[in-house]
Amino acid sequence: MLIKRPKGWEIPEAQATPESVYLNRRHFMGGLATAGAALLAGCGPAEDARAQGDGASISTGLTGGAEAESLYPVPRNETFVLDREITREDLATTYNNFYEFGSHKRIWRNAQNLPLTPWDVTIDGMVEQERTISFYDLVRQMPLEERLYRHRCVEAWAMAVPWSGFPLKALIDWARPLSSATYVRMETFMNRQVASGQRAPGYPWPYVEGLTMAEAVNDLAFIATGIYGRAMPAQNGAPLRLAVPWKYGFKSIKSIVRFTFTDERPLTFWENVGPREYGFWANVNPEVPHRRWSQATEELFGVEARVPTQLFNGYGEYVAHLYDGVTGEDLWH
Ligand code: MTE
Repeated sequence: MLIKRPKGWEIPEAQATPESVYLNRRHFMGGLATAGAALLAGCGPAEDARAQGDGASISTGLTGGAEAESLYPVPRNETFVLDREITREDLATTYNNFYEFGSHKRIWRNAQNLPLTPWDVTIDGMVEQERTISFYDLVRQMPLEERLYRHRCVEAWAMAVPWSGFPLKALIDWARPLSSATYVRMETFMNRQVASGQRAPGYPWPYVEGLTMAEAVNDLAFIATGIYGRAMPAQNGAPLRLAVPWKYGFKSIKSIVRFTFTDERPLTFWENVGPREYGFWANVNPEVPHRRWSQATEELFGVEARVPTQLFNGYGEYVAHLYDGVTGEDLWH
C-alpha cells in the first residue's frame, strides 16, 4: 500500500469533509480495514503525480471524441487576465474534487467511466416552455470563448485555468425564464452504476447547486465545456460545468443535467451535508475563516507558493455590487 505523506497545506479529509459525513464514512469503512486505510491515506495528491504530472489522463475522457474536439480551440476573451501562471494541464486534470467518483483527489481514472454521449440537458421550472436538449444542440447555439479564471477551492488550494465555454447568461436568455424566477438550481447526473461515490452512504445525491438570478446573469458566471483549448475531460465536469470564480470551488457544479428556474432558494449539496460550514453564498473572503481552517492565504497548486487570498477571489469589481444591502445572510461560507 502506498502511504502518502501530505504536504503541510493539504487538508486531511477529516478536516475538509464535514464531520458528520466523515464519521459516517469511517463507520461504513470500519469493516474494510485495509481498503479503508488506503482510501483515507489517499485523500491528498500523490507526491509523484504532483512532481511529474500524470499525463495519461489528458488524452482520455473527452466529451464525445472528434465531434467535441471540433468545437475547440475558441477565441480568448482578453477581458479576464490572471495575476499568476496558468496551472499545468496535467495537474489540473489529475487533481480533482468530484465526489461522485470518490472523496479523494485522484478520481480521474474512475471518472473515465462516465458515459458522455448522449447527454441531455433539461430546462424546467419557471420558464416559458420546459424542454430537453442534447448537449451538442445546445452548445452549437452558444457563443463560445475562452476565459482565464482563478479557481479557489474552499480547502485553500488554488489553480488558474483556461476554460472554454459560454456565459451562463447566454443559456438563460435561450431558456427564457419567467420574470418571477429568482434562482437557478443546477443538478448533476445520477448514475450509481458508474459513480461509486453515489453508492456510498452519507451524501444527499444528486449534487445540487444554485445561484440567484442576479448572480447567474453576471458577466463572470460561465458554463465551461472545455479546458486548455480542448473538450472537457470527464474528471473536470464534462460535458458542461459551472465556473463562478468569485465563489469557493464547490459552487462550480460539474456535469450538469438540469437547470431549474425557481422562486425558492435551492438547498445545495454541501449546505445539506454541513450547513454550518458550507452555505448557499460561499463568496471568497480571506477574513472569514472556514470553521476549521484559515482562508487568509492559498496554495498555488503546482507552484508550491502561498499567496494572500483576495476578497471575491479578486473579482470584486464585477460582483461586489451584487451583495450591496444584503443583510442577515452569511455571504462567506
Ligand atoms: N461538482 C460535482 N458534481 N461534484 C463534486 O464533487 N466538487 C466541487 C466542484 N464541483 C464537485 C463539483 C469542488 S469542492 C471543487 S473545488 C471543484 O468542483 C473542483 O473542480 P476541478 O476538479 O475541476 O478543479
